[in-house]
Amino acid sequence: MTGVLITAEGVEGSGKSTQLLHLSERLRRMGLPVVVSKEPGGTALGLQIRTLLLTPHSSGESWCPEAELMLFYADRAQHLAQVIRPAMAAGKIVLVDRFEDSTRAYQGASGVSEQVLDRLHELVVGRLKPHLTLLLDMDPELSLQRVEVRNLAMGEEFKETRFDQAHLEFHRRVRARFLAIAQGDPGRVAVIPARDAPALVETAIWHRVAPLLRNAGFRLPDDEAVVG
Ligand code: TYD
Repeated sequence: MTGVLITAEGVEGSGKSTQLLHLSERLRRMGLPVVVSKEPGGTALGLQIRTLLLTPHSSGESWCPEAELMLFYADRAQHLAQVIRPAMAAGKIVLVDRFEDSTRAYQGASGVSEQVLDRLHELVVGRLKPHLTLLLDMDPELSLQRVEVRNLAMGEEFKETRFDQAHLEFHRRVRARFLAIAQGDPGRVAVIPARDAPALVETAIWHRVAPLLRNAGFRLPDDEAVVG
């Protein structure tokens, strides 16, 4: 049996990490084999790349779009080799917080061409495709406010990453690119309105995940599948 790959995507503050955590807890309670991971930073080495990508450098220098792109792909190559492919081969349900679509949305919005994105995709990811992508969609103006509140609650040292500093306009372009990806691949990408109350979002997610897992041969208790 090969596993199931589910990715979560969306602009910052859309709540995808929390939702993925809830989903993983629900699946674990059902006794299903789940692996949860994230990009960038799903491996110990990848965490070093994450720091390089997200921590502003004291010199004031920032990565040019091509260098940034290759760092994300270096992280992804390691993540695929070390975590995703082995877990899939072992028949697990693999939940990943951000994957390919983030690169297409963010680096695309930074000006990297589709051809370059396609080439790196082919080199690193090849034919592997998520069975389901949950796109938690919301207006970045609202989602970035959420991020701000969260950062304030965490204290000074967590304030602002490199990407949070980018302008609202940029995040609007990112959102539009995510939605265009969803439109082009409706069989894979489920657009979940993320402004709704968290419990509603969770139910919407479950209604997409449960049938997929059943089709893949996982046994789910009936009540969980119906009630959500
Ligand atoms: P993170 O703190 O993980 O954000 P979030 O909690 O919203 O997922 O930071 C990841 C940042 O990296 C986020 O701004 C999106 C960006 N990113 C890219 O630009 N390209 C990529 O391929 C990936 C995976 C992430």
